[in-house]
Amino acid sequence: MLTVALPKGRIAKETLEIFETIFGDGFKFDDRKLILETPNFRFLLVRNQDVATYVYHQAADIGVVGVDTLEEQGLDVVRLLDLHRGVCKVSIGMRVGEKLDLTKLELKVASKMVNITKRYFEERAVSVEIIKLNGSVELAPLIGLADMIVDVVETGTTMKQNGLEVVEDIMTSSTYLIANKNSYIAKKDEVLDIYEKINAVIQTEQKA
Ligand code: PRP
Repeated sequence: MLTVALPKGRIAKETLEIFETIFGDGFKFDDRKLILETPNFRFLLVRNQDVATYVYHQAADIGVVGVDTLEEQGLDVVRLLDLHRGVCKVSIGMRVGEKLDLTKLELKVASKMVNITKRYFEERAVSVEIIKLNGSVELAPLIGLADMIVDVVETGTTMKQNGLEVVEDIMTSSTYLIANKNSYIAKKDEVLDIYEKINAVIQTEQKA
């Protein structure tokens, strides 16, 4: 039996569809239930930001989460497989027409992803003030809370509709299958078995 942590929303749905492709029907959560038991798997529906936490503490053996979130959280888990879903970038956004000038003093950067932001500017030896927000980050430059934002860009629509544009990409992200380090050893056969089955589905999709 493997316990699988899934992030509520589209990625959970898409992951369960992969399981249905492999094993057939029966991978649907009832209404508001947060646990789904099948003969070989127990699925947990958690917040995206909590997937790696469940896996790191071995409350789940495997999970599905974006590389952006993994990089932000820095928890030590095994990255097994790129699922080629949830593809996005983490980018710096500024008001349209403004230029990124790293020589400017006292730059203020708003972001949900403070660790990725901190690392980016530290690597360039630029001292910035990082303002942690929990969402609607695009607002910050519009009302003068920050000079720029570091945020997830998928279609680019949110930035565009708020008069912002990408001035620099920091990283590309996509959804990964991850595993707990101990489960990876103790339940190696089960983990590798599901890895291989999911990988076969992904490879078939990639060829199509
Ligand atoms: C993310 C991100 C942007 C938006 C980007 O927010 O913070 O606001 O999506 O997507 P787009 O480029 O396709 O417009 P999300 O919807 O995950 O909500 P959150 O702010 O609550 O995390």
